[in-house]
Amino acid sequence: MELFAAIDTRSSAGRLTTPGPSPEQLERLLHAAARAPDHGRIRPWRFVVLKDAARDAFTAAAALAKRVRLPDMTAEQLAAEREKISRSPAIVVVGCAVNREQTKVPEIEQVVAVGAAAQNLFLAAHDLGYGVMWKTGAAAYDPAVKATVGLKPDDHIVAIMHLGTRLK
Ligand SMILES: Cc1cc2nc3c(=O)[nH]c(=O)nc-3n(C[C@H](O)[C@H](O)[C@H](O)COP(=O)(O)O)c2cc1C
Repeated sequence: MELFAAIDTRSSAGRLTTPGPSPEQLERLLHAAARAPDHGRIRPWRFVVLKDAARDAFTAAAALAKRVRLPDMTAEQLAAEREKISRSPAIVVVGCAVNREQTKVPEIEQVVAVGAAAQNLFLAAHDLGYGVMWKTGAAAYDPAVKATVGLKPDDHIVAIMHLGTRLK
């Protein structure tokens, strides 16, 4: 797909089903993401492909983060929230591990570089024919969720990227 066509046809996929990208395709997508411009070559991005126990831990923490925001959530709604996240064919968490040990590149520029990486990932997945949904929500700002993907409380989750075959 030509680049302008990919940009012009990209849109969020409201519903996804299997299959998601293969391990080789995910590798390719992360390589494309890491081609983003990055002031100072800090490489602040962290890509975590959620699998197995790590995925379970992320899912549980993300559902709980939603309940912190909506305290009236019932146990059933909490379980439904977990179910919703775990149904996603593939999830890549795109984080920014801010490097504060240097003074040259401010935090906002590091976060913006990670945003560019997330958009590269989105367009590359679209180019491979997959549907993509870029999410954040309560989970992205929750320290316990960040911890499940190896981020510190003052790091950032820039995108929770859901990938799969587009239904809608
Ligand atoms: C930083 C960021 C965070 C987003 N978070 C959410 C989210 O939590 N939930 C959601 O439904 N969409 C989220 N989106 C997707 C936007 O809602 C979506 O891009 C917008 O509605 C425009 O639709 P389009 O992508 O189809 O053009 C997010 C997009 C960005 C860039």
